[in-house]
Amino acid sequence: MGTNGVLQVTDSRTGCSYELPITDGAIRAIDLRQVKVSEDDFGLLCYDPAFLNTASCRSAITFIDGDKGILRYRGYPIEELAGHASFLDVAYLLLHGELPGKEESEAWTREITHHTFVHENVKKFIDGFHHDAHPMGILVSTVAALSTFYPEAKAVADQAIQRDQMVRLIAKMPTLAAFAYRHAMGLPYAYPDDELSYAGNFLNMMWKMTEPRYSPDPVLEHALDALFILHADHEQNCSTSAMRVVGSSQVDPYSAAAAAAAALYGPLHGGANEQVLRMLQEIGSVDNIPAYIARAKRGELRLMGFGHRVYKNFDPRATIIKEIADSVFAVTGRNPLLDIALELERIALADEYFISHKLYPNVDFYSGIIYQAMGFPVSMFPVLFAIGRMPGWLAQWHESAADPEQKIARPRQIYVGEGLRHLNGTIS
Ligand code: ACO
Repeated sequence: MGTNGVLQVTDSRTGCSYELPITDGAIRAIDLRQVKVSEDDFGLLCYDPAFLNTASCRSAITFIDGDKGILRYRGYPIEELAGHASFLDVAYLLLHGELPGKEESEAWTREITHHTFVHENVKKFIDGFHHDAHPMGILVSTVAALSTFYPEAKAVADQAIQRDQMVRLIAKMPTLAAFAYRHAMGLPYAYPDDELSYAGNFLNMMWKMTEPRYSPDPVLEHALDALFILHADHEQNCSTSAMRVVGSSQVDPYSAAAAAAAALYGPLHGGANEQVLRMLQEIGSVDNIPAYIARAKRGELRLMGFGHRVYKNFDPRATIIKEIADSVFAVTGRNPLLDIALELERIALADEYFISHKLYPNVDFYSGIIYQAMGFPVSMFPVLFAIGRMPGWLAQWHESAADPEQKIARPRQIYVGEGLRHLNGTIS
């Protein structure tokens, strides 16, 4: 929170002075509208492509200090949550503002577990996809398709109805994700197992073959749960902004969540972990790293998994993920790409270009290496991210819907096209 005060500005075009209130370290962009050169002037606009310096909402969910490498959900440091809470308890925290007590936690887990099945028609829908369809494309489509199964979700002002949809979305994400994978592999779908944890059940739906009951490895189950926690929210990032913007039209949460998932799919956002793996495979050997880094410095390519709009010191999630990696590799064996990744990080962090540009490994740099060691194909990486991020999207959507200051999102533009002109009669 910044301090309050007043910003005094003078418009050199008119010589007029204005006092703009500062609240919580921000002025209200709409206060600039009074700054005009004439009565019929529209008023001063803020030009902020990519929202580099625009707060679009007031939020009580996630706090980030990018310079200090701090990430907190509802006040709790990410390090404490990833070490001691379950993903479903963190989902509860994001949605409700407080961690659940023991009984609340059990009831919440039961409720989510109860909703993991999807309508059988969803399977038919997935069957229509090409055998090599990207699972993220399938996920985006099936999340959107859920809106047709729950038409009551349109009642976005009804709290009880909306709570049901939030439970369904969190519960069904692993099922949709695993079904997308099994479709690509030509494997029969494995149904949810209510006796397993959220992460354990997901592993069951991914890997179960002929055994009567699948038992997840507890280390991998725990690691995946922690990875979901690390991805659960990240304030107003690209996909969350998509969730809020699309949700502001009062469309149902399935459609808004599909838009958020689509935003996450992009290689500059949640698709980055997939790109990291492809990059490490392309580099191929530690010997090739200096040449690859030189290309990044010449602007020919970007080091995927490096850099962040907000973190300019280190990404706290990347630090925790490195610790998780050790426990996973103890079970799966060491991923040979890890050596390339560690050396790439070492060389880049000592390089003047990366130091001066404040480029550090982000959450995606190591997550992909862990996922690969656990057996997930690279195309599933953004899907795993989406499972973890769903509670964050929903918490932000819910907060936005209850915020009396929010309206349908509708930015302005600076028109730079042609002035008025007329058809000259030559159109055929
Ligand atoms: N490799 C090499 N140079 C880079 C990288 C990178 N990964 N990232 C940024 N730079 C350079 C840019 O070329 C630019 O240099 P210049 O000022 O000399 O022209 C400067 O650093 C600033 O880059 P911007 O793109 O303006 O920074 P921005 O904040 O807009 O981008 C982003 C952040 C998209 C994450 C960027 O760092 C990037 O593309 N990283 C690689 C993709 C990635 O890992 N994305 C995952 C982000 S985490 C997440 O979404 C969960």
